[in-house]
Amino acid sequence: MQTPWEYRYAYRIQKMGSSVIRELLKLTEQPDIISFAGGLPAPEVFPVKEFQEACNVVLKEQGAQALQYSTTEGYRPLREMIARHNERYSAHVSADNILITSGSQQALDFIGRLFINRGDYVVVESPTYLGALQAWNAYGAQYITVPTDENGMVVDRLEAALRVGPKFIYVLPNFQNPSGSTLSLERRIKLVELADKYGVPIIEDDPYGQLRYEGEHVPSVVMLDSQYRDETDGEYTGNVIYLSTFSKLLAPGLRLAWVIAPPEVIRRLVMTKQAADLHTSSFNQYVAYEVAKGGFLDEHIKFIRQVYKERRDTMLEMMDELFPPEMHWTRPHGGMFLWGMMPEGVDAAKVLRIAIERKVAFVPGEAFHPNGGGENTMRLNFSYSAPETIREGVARLGRTLKEVLKDGHKMPE
Ligand SMILES: Cc1ncc(COP(=O)(O)O)c(C=O)c1O
Repeated sequence: MQTPWEYRYAYRIQKMGSSVIRELLKLTEQPDIISFAGGLPAPEVFPVKEFQEACNVVLKEQGAQALQYSTTEGYRPLREMIARHNERYSAHVSADNILITSGSQQALDFIGRLFINRGDYVVVESPTYLGALQAWNAYGAQYITVPTDENGMVVDRLEAALRVGPKFIYVLPNFQNPSGSTLSLERRIKLVELADKYGVPIIEDDPYGQLRYEGEHVPSVVMLDSQYRDETDGEYTGNVIYLSTFSKLLAPGLRLAWVIAPPEVIRRLVMTKQAADLHTSSFNQYVAYEVAKGGFLDEHIKFIRQVYKERRDTMLEMMDELFPPEMHWTRPHGGMFLWGMMPEGVDAAKVLRIAIERKVAFVPGEAFHPNGGGENTMRLNFSYSAPETIREGVARLGRTLKEVLKDGHKMPE
């Protein structure tokens, strides 16, 4: 039944319908279902004790400041720590290149607000992060998709997309959500060069870069861009807006992330953030700084890598053993997800329906493709469940897939 409210919403909200997949995924929250659908970190790795101690220290030593309003840019010692830490992982930047946001999801929303006019084109990988599409759909973005393979975005196909005149290129170079693939160094360099040639900025979304379980670290796109411009010290003034987050390194409930961008973009983002929420929680910033300073973060990241590597290896071993031969999947070198491909013509949403009856769940891949496609694909999360749960879940999914894929892929309607 339609209510008077239906006619009152702005156009951008009217487009935000509930999807069949979202409704299906609600079913996966039942306690007896083993869900590989979510994107959650393992709760066992949250440093609860360290947070408890840090809260006490902050309240005792800086209680009033931590509970007061603060600057929109974020707590300076935290920004300086991020700048130092990022020298190893991304570019040489100063605290003036950094804005603290309430999660990277907020940064994605602000980027939409800053750059996207209704009907503007944005270049994305196919598949890409669903949360970015949700953020930018509200601003009326249209998408030009560039295909991906096991080495990330197929950059050879990018030039045609850039000729259309997009506002920016959105890329997830490390252990991509959803596919788990990593953009090769050669492609990163080509991406930087092409973006410069066509004058199109790059948004580099990197929540998982430090969660590598094998292989060598590949320099970030923002670092390659600063080298390309010969900007090896001082402020970064290049072509990349880089996002990362404490969600996967400390805890997502903090809602604490950072943006690295040229100071002029940071100034615009600050104005946007002032209008949205004034600043990210001061208390959370003080506490996160207290927890992370003094080398704890480095040690903690080593521990997370150990836990997730075991879970990834368990999932891959079980899939090798129990999945039908028609299935293919990625072998990510880090992050939290891998990507399964069923034969063409098999509908992952229908398979999910059957899987839920068998008490196991995944996310059908179609939703990660803004211009359609990927109906036969699925995203599986390996960070959340303990190894024994992963074993049982993969066994259930393997049985479901064998059943579904026999008989020439016929499935109930
Ligand atoms: C690629 C990507 N970007 C952004 C986010 C949002 O992170 P945050 O918790 O910092 O908002 C996620 C979360 O899963 C993600 O996978």
